Amino acid sequence: MGKQKKVQENEQKKATVKKRNAYYDDENNDVKFSVQMLKKTLRYAVPYKKLLVVTSVLLFLVGFLALVPATLNKYVVDYVLTKAGYAGGSWQATLVVVLVAWVSIVIADVVFSFVRTVWMSRVGHSIVRDVRKDTYTNLQKLSFEYFDTRPMGRTLVRVTNYLDGIANIFSNAVITALVDCSKIAMLLVWLFVVDWRLTLVVVGIVVPMFVVLIFVRRAVVRTKRVHRNKDSNRTSYVAENISGAFVTKAFNRGAYNAGVHKGLCLDVQKNWMKFTRRHELFWPVGDGFFMMGTILVYGMAIAIIQGWMGSVGALSVGTLLAFVSYMGMFASPINNIATVMQKVSVATSNLERVFELAESDIAILDKEDAYPLPTIEGVVKFDNVSFAYDEGVTILDKVNLEVPKGSMYALVGPTGAGKTTLVSLISRFYEVESGTVSIDGHDVSKVTQESLRRQVGVMMQDSFIFSGTILENIRYARPEATEAECIQAAKKVYAHDFISKLPQGYHTKTLEQGQGLSTGQRQLISFARVILTDPKILILDEATSSIDTETEAKIKKVLEEVLVGRTSFVIAHRLSTIRKADKILFVADKGICESGTHEQLMALGGRYHKLVTTHG
Ligand SMILES: Nc1ncnc2c1ncn2[C@@H]1O[C@H](COP(=O)(O)OP(=O)(O)O)[C@@H](O)[C@H]1O
Ligand SMILES: [Mg+2]
Repeated sequence: MGKQKKVQENEQKKATVKKRNAYYDDENNDVKFSVQMLKKTLRYAVPYKKLLVVTSVLLFLVGFLALVPATLNKYVVDYVLTKAGYAGGSWQATLVVVLVAWVSIVIADVVFSFVRTVWMSRVGHSIVRDVRKDTYTNLQKLSFEYFDTRPMGRTLVRVTNYLDGIANIFSNAVITALVDCSKIAMLLVWLFVVDWRLTLVVVGIVVPMFVVLIFVRRAVVRTKRVHRNKDSNRTSYVAENISGAFVTKAFNRGAYNAGVHKGLCLDVQKNWMKFTRRHELFWPVGDGFFMMGTILVYGMAIAIIQGWMGSVGALSVGTLLAFVSYMGMFASPINNIATVMQKVSVATSNLERVFELAESDIAILDKEDAYPLPTIEGVVKFDNVSFAYDEGVTILDKVNLEVPKGSMYALVGPTGAGKTTLVSLISRFYEVESGTVSIDGHDVSKVTQESLRRQVGVMMQDSFIFSGTILENIRYARPEATEAECIQAAKKVYAHDFISKLPQGYHTKTLEQGQGLSTGQRQLISFARVILTDPKILILDEATSSIDTETEAKIKKVLEEVLVGRTSFVIAHRLSTIRKADKILFVADKGICESGTHEQLMALGGRYHKLVTTHG
């Protein structure tokens, strides 16, 4: 029985690991090459089909031209060096023809190769640009759940490194492989024409060589996948540490983190070595086959020339020499093809993840018949709403709430009770598990998200500041707003005072994440940002928690002015801010356990009363 429980526990652990993916969890990327994936990839190539066709023709030409020199060589040996001449011509005439042909081939080869490479690059990078565009567009659509469950670094790796790798595949590797395939095919035909007996020997070597190399490749792919995983772990960790650099320094975690990082690097290295050992088998194996092939061809040639094979005809020295050069031409394309197959295989698993990002179903999508939310009055209703971030861990259980238009509701309660969660559901940042959240009777899951979020202003707990200027940050929600409107909004929330005192005022540069501004200043800017959109429903999640008491006193006045005519949800720890709320909701125990005005709740003598009396 105990064992069974353990198994169950393990299963559970696995399930959570799969969902929440930290830097120390390997991503599951055991993806087989799939036709579906190929189709998806090819879909991206469709707009470039003309260019692809033209380039393929060039590919073919380049491959063909590469075959000619060895034959010219044969003519030099058999007809010029022996002074026999060819087809009745003198040896001098033959030499001139050979030279002219040779020079033309060199020139044509240079030109064709150049054009082909440039064009293929263009196709490859155009395709990647398209994938990148789709990926980014979708990144914007992904739900909070997606970002909650994946480290930022991993997402970053997907939109940068993986795509770079794929660009390389499209513009480089695949082309080379195509050239090589056509080379091999033409080579075989050519050889058959030159001497079919020796060709049989060559085929006898090339086929097993190919099979063995495919096996080696398989082993390589496996280790390469593991390597990618480990590398992605490392990147996630580094990304996490850059974001948390401040905390790292404050708590002297530098050395400890370096240790963790070293471990992750060791993991990367160990797997890289494993990969290298297999990867480096390629050339030695290929070379071995090539040498064996050469010996066999020579053996066969000697047998033919010596007449041991009976009456199979003659063989010229020039033909033998040409043959040996042709044999040498097999090794590189075969190795290339095997390598490309391996690369494509790796790229497929990366593509899988990029596509997951490009079309992730973790995105909260508009319903097919979603309609735009009409201009709202601001009546918010929760009807038996239950919600869980992770299956089985209920955060809100059958919450009912009706907020009349234009009223201010305050939410208080212990940390982690679900206040932020509750208000997130109004903007449909997360999907409810059951029940409905509605605004003016419109179920929020049935209207378009764009129309919903345009009318619901949210100021989250962490006020994110983008790099740019203060003005641009205020204008973020309404790019068409004039400077005057932005200043007006800033004045409304008493942000104008501090902004105008900055050396460059509204044009002061801001850095990513708002370094250089105090938390309170950041909050004021975000506050102005949300006020600028003039939303009918306003959600302020601890919007004023880091603002000094003097400004806070002003904010209290602001709230009184700004919230008029809007339905508002204010989460605040400073109880003084919310005393005047139309209703105070005490959020705890997976729901709203007390609700009423300040006076009513005080009279009730419950948890709110206790909170007020202990914290003032
Ligand atoms: N993105 C998330 N994924 C999983 N659990 C979460 C997430 N955000 C919050 N929680 C959990 O949900 C509960 C409520 O969180 P939250 O609504 O942020 O609390 P509050 O705002 O009241 O402090 C907490 O127990 C927290 O651990
Ligand atoms: Mg919160």
